[in-house]
Amino acid sequence: MKIELLDNKVFFENEGYKKEIHPFWLRERVNGEQFVDKGTQQRLFDPTELDRNIKIKDLNLSKEFLEISFNDGSYAKLAIQSILKEFSNKNDIEFIEKIKWDSRLKNLNHFNFKKNIFEEIEMHKALIDFYKYGFVIFKEVPTENNFIINFANSIGSVRRTNFGEYFDVKSKPNPNDLAYTSLPLAPHTDNPYRNPVPCIQMLHCITNEVNGGLSTLVDGYTVTEKLKKDFPEYYEILTKTKVRFQFIDENVVLENWAEMIQLDDNKKFKQVRFSPRLDFVPLMEKEKLEIYYLARNKISELYNSDEYRIEFKLMPGDLLMMDNHRLLHGRTSYNSKDGERFLQGCYIDYDSAEGRLKHLKRKFGF
Ligand SMILES: [Fe+2]
Repeated sequence: MKIELLDNKVFFENEGYKKEIHPFWLRERVNGEQFVDKGTQQRLFDPTELDRNIKIKDLNLSKEFLEISFNDGSYAKLAIQSILKEFSNKNDIEFIEKIKWDSRLKNLNHFNFKKNIFEEIEMHKALIDFYKYGFVIFKEVPTENNFIINFANSIGSVRRTNFGEYFDVKSKPNPNDLAYTSLPLAPHTDNPYRNPVPCIQMLHCITNEVNGGLSTLVDGYTVTEKLKKDFPEYYEILTKTKVRFQFIDENVVLENWAEMIQLDDNKKFKQVRFSPRLDFVPLMEKEKLEIYYLARNKISELYNSDEYRIEFKLMPGDLLMMDNHRLLHGRTSYNSKDGERFLQGCYIDYDSAEGRLKHLKRKFGF
């Protein structure tokens, strides 16, 4: 792709395809200090108040810069690279390729917590790993009560839910959720009934004195790609059928209609939802439902298979950060008579992690 000039007009050429760049598009990007605030990169002018028929008065193109003078007296010096970058709406994150994994996943990087890690290259590496694998583990995170809130807010902002800013995971008498027992939890995604579904879950281990109680993770991306390859009919119905996910308690009724496997505009993997105690398929014709039930059984079988699940024990100070749109999580059973098992959890949104990654990228000039 390149930039060319002709008769006081600017053109971009891409694979033999040549088009003029609208002069107003260039005028909006005028970047002198009287036009743009240096710190925030916000405009100091309102483009909707400019003359729409702005004309280019003078142009100069060098290897790295395009210089333009406009008929309203403004002048811009634009880096060619920054113009070319705007032709793609691909986010920086999308350039990080997802690595599919299964039970054979070994030797993952762990990142040791230190006070200023949020501003260091280590955090950039950790976030890249997070986008590749869908999770990352930090070690030696202080086991003070509620430290997870501090941690989450240092990456972005905690996403509060109706369970509060954070939640305690431990077995307790008369639990209102299976999470608060010592029973095993099959792989699931959290809160599929919310709109939007919380993006990233953090789980911080404060105490773990029990045998068992291993954390489990499954890569929904790997499993759904497998389904697509081996059982295309099942994949199709799970990507096309919107199911009602529901949560009800005395204060709230939460419902979200969504596919178990949600695809993006390019028909690529976007998100999985799986929580078979909370899903209600609409009343469809019997033949279609027959396929749907077979498909749900098959994906459940894959999610629960040893082939795709990794298991590990979270130790005090470990903090697991995982993508709730991509991974399923669970735990093995334990005996609460062994001692205490206490984790604290919370959620953050995608833009928190993404914003931190881009900030660190800018800071270290990557
Ligand atoms: Fe969960």
